[in-house]
Amino acid sequence: MQMPNKAPTIVRSSGNSLMALARQILISLGLLGLIGLGACQPANKGAELGLVDAKDVHSYANPSEARVMDVALDLKSDFEAKRLSGTATLTLKTAANAKKVVLDTKDLDVTSVTDASGTPLRFSLGKTHPSLGQPLSIELPQGAQKIVITYATTDKTTALQWLDASQTAGKSHPFLLSQGQEIHTRTWIPTQDSPGLRQTYSARIETPKALKAVMSAEMLTPEGEAVADHPDRRAYRFRMREPIAPYLIAIAIGDIGFKSVGRRTGVYAETSLVEKAAYEFAEMEKLVHAAESLYGPYQWGRYDVLVLPPSFPYGGMENPRLTFLTPTILAGDRSLVSLIAHELAHSWSGNLVTNATWADFWLNEGFTVYFENRIMEQVYGKETADALKVLGHQELLATYEEISKGKDPQFTRLKPDLTGRSPDEYFSQIPYEKGAAFLWMLEKHFGRKVFDTYLKGYFQRHRFSSLTTEAFVDDLKTHLLKNNSALEDSLKIKAWIYENGLPDNMVVPQSGAFKKVDADLAAFAAGKAPAELDTKSYTTQQWQYFLNNLPNSTPESKMKALDEAYQLTEAGNSEVLFSWLQKAIVTDYKPALAATEAFLKRQGRRKYVAPLYKSLMEKNATTKALARKIYAEARPSYHEVTRSTVDKIVI
Ligand code: BES
Ligand code: ZN
Repeated sequence: MQMPNKAPTIVRSSGNSLMALARQILISLGLLGLIGLGACQPANKGAELGLVDAKDVHSYANPSEARVMDVALDLKSDFEAKRLSGTATLTLKTAANAKKVVLDTKDLDVTSVTDASGTPLRFSLGKTHPSLGQPLSIELPQGAQKIVITYATTDKTTALQWLDASQTAGKSHPFLLSQGQEIHTRTWIPTQDSPGLRQTYSARIETPKALKAVMSAEMLTPEGEAVADHPDRRAYRFRMREPIAPYLIAIAIGDIGFKSVGRRTGVYAETSLVEKAAYEFAEMEKLVHAAESLYGPYQWGRYDVLVLPPSFPYGGMENPRLTFLTPTILAGDRSLVSLIAHELAHSWSGNLVTNATWADFWLNEGFTVYFENRIMEQVYGKETADALKVLGHQELLATYEEISKGKDPQFTRLKPDLTGRSPDEYFSQIPYEKGAAFLWMLEKHFGRKVFDTYLKGYFQRHRFSSLTTEAFVDDLKTHLLKNNSALEDSLKIKAWIYENGLPDNMVVPQSGAFKKVDADLAAFAAGKAPAELDTKSYTTQQWQYFLNNLPNSTPESKMKALDEAYQLTEAGNSEVLFSWLQKAIVTDYKPALAATEAFLKRQGRRKYVAPLYKSLMEKNATTKALARKIYAEARPSYHEVTRSTVDKIVI
């Protein structure tokens, strides 16, 4: 059978308990009617494999009855009304006796549903759940394989952020950006919004003439086309031929320019930022080469990036063929490219092999942090890679401590229970850094050569499919552990994945570059003047480490001396500035407060914004009042993702 189009909620899992066996038999019986869906599994030799219904608790879809295989969008963008409207034509694969298809929607205006010939189909929208939205059930007459939904987005559509010209770098045109992960795609596209339900897609997007549309797909009309009878508009067409998870469908519209930086790499950005972005990311092609040399051919054709306006809530988002990026990574010195290495790595871990549900998120992010570090090591050397590992490890320890103390210690697991929870509640460094730490543990045990062969095989075996943690564990047992259950126990595989905490066989990374910083920190603590510290050759990562590890009890006078020696309050590098401002708030170094306010107002990256507000809220009454004042002013310009997090902090 064809790998990409297999019935998606049916995924492999080990059936090593009686219950599991019984479940498998029941499910297998249930599958008898689904031959038309291609529900059979490719044989996975050597493992005791069964079929398990990996229910995605964040989707209303009914894929075993009818599943969406392709989405074809025809949408018009209206920047006055801040609305996309038009049609989504869905191609379905249905079971023999399918009666209906159930889609995920949230905050959409659905006006009609028809079959391919225009005959109306009966549909109903179910009850609204605050994060999951509403199921859209559409009755399917015998044989209906295509449905056409006419709809529009609304002002509640969380996937889309409509920016006024004033919120862009160029200041003269508005901008639209989308962010689908984890469950926002349903707020702009009515489809089955589960990462286990891969779909191909195509789109025709109408824009105002001065603006360009880009998507996470092959761009069929880079310059756009005229729109009949509408000289003020242009249309852009796109095609993604590989089946991808719906959260990876992405769009941006704005005054967007492009510059090539390599054979199959290039940068898109607001036209006024294209040159700066092209300089920053000049080494992208090298990263792609390094990634391919590690884990096999890049499968998506081109690798381009798009630098977004500063409200983009993430550092980066791995939309296929077109990574979306925060402009805060434009440091001017190429020092933050590890973020590109990360998003590029997702072209394998995440986009090619995808978490089947949001409880399997670590399969995306943990693998990607590991892979990112390997790319960095290959291109920039071991010293750089080790330094990045140590920074990540420190973040892991801090996150672990915080979550353990909180109300959800199960969120220190790689596989949490997300029933009744929104996926974003689990977002933390755990899936990233504990996930990567698990792989570093395996790497150490098996050695690079064996482990690399395993990983390369893993991507190859599961390309264009979505996996549960259980299916991964099966694959690991078969292909790396060779079914050695004593080894499985001694490596504590189950504890790593299913238990709270950080197992004691975690590898603690070491960095030579930070030894020198440790010495400088000690000298500074002992009274050495900042200007006498030899920081001239400090890398960005060394500065981060120095600032992060400065004691919170550092007196204001010493903070002042540091600032005078190194102008940290004016730092242009966003990571260095962030670490400095955090320390300045905690140590009550007041001269940095104005810079904190300015930073909070000029960008909306959640990773920076949320911790800074938290520190301000916690320090004292004055900083708390300041946090409230800044947030009242800045909130309207933030993305919904950032708002919903900060709303819980600034109260
Ligand atoms: N896929 C994530 C971003 C994401 C995760 C969006 C979950 C929505 C929900 C992306 O690859 C990512 O991890 N970005 C990081 C940067 C990275 C270098 C750790 C970020 O945005 O900070
Ligand atoms: Zn990531």
